[in-house]
Amino acid sequence: MGTVTQGGSRQGRTPLIAGNWKMNLDYQQAIALVQKLDWALKDAKHDASSVEVAVFPPFTDLRSVQTLISADKIEFSLGAQDLSVHDSGAYTGEISGQFLKKLDCGYVLIGHSERRQYHDEGDDVVAAKVKAAIKHGLVPVICVGETAEDLETHGASAVPVAQLKTALTDVAAGTEVVVAYEPVWAIGSGQAATPEQAQQVCEKLRAVVAEALGADAAAATRILYGGSVAAGNIAGFMREPDVDGALVGGASLKVDDFAAIIRYQKHVGV
Ligand code: 13P
Repeated sequence: MGTVTQGGSRQGRTPLIAGNWKMNLDYQQAIALVQKLDWALKDAKHDASSVEVAVFPPFTDLRSVQTLISADKIEFSLGAQDLSVHDSGAYTGEISGQFLKKLDCGYVLIGHSERRQYHDEGDDVVAAKVKAAIKHGLVPVICVGETAEDLETHGASAVPVAQLKTALTDVAAGTEVVVAYEPVWAIGSGQAATPEQAQQVCEKLRAVVAEALGADAAAATRILYGGSVAAGNIAGFMREPDVDGALVGGASLKVDDFAAIIRYQKHVGV
């Protein structure tokens, strides 16, 4: 952490632009994308210290991406899209946090709405996975967000606030976490939240972090917005004081789009 950026007032939190590839790209396609992205940023003389870039490939790509990042000295962080609540043992198909750590993963997504929706992951499973990540030295990227129905019934912040409170139960004060606010209705829909909507919820989520982990941790915690982030709307989000970056799905699979999102500081008016 360290660099104070233009736009927003984020007290030294280094912005984090993260690409969640979901179930896209085999290992060869993964290598090609990371190489092209690195070249695009270097060609544009992007200042790598101003924004942290992280990629979250499928499990089967992690080893290849790790090897490329370390061989070519590419300044991207690596994360996984999920982990097991267990350390090891007879859990067919599961992936332990200790295996991810060994692959130099710094981060792991937890509680993405697609895991909640298609794999029935409730808040209790999310909380257990947060603990498993921390135990293995991974920073959990805790995903929260309301559905369109929640939005109508409870407003924007009630569900994400409740989800985050449960996810942080019994997490020690001062622990590093990242929070991703992803309204489910905005994911893959082309209909992003407005920067003001994102700010309102992210501010409340920071208050939850303060209550659970302390004021210093809350001031240091990166809170990301996710849901139809694109080159054309990132600058607006990054102007908000409690939005410290983005969790990008579809646009992270396209080199030019993702490079433009990473280079949001160059966009007019930021
Ligand atoms: P899109 O950027 O494709 O809307 O996906 C957002 C997301 O789910 C990232 O985790």
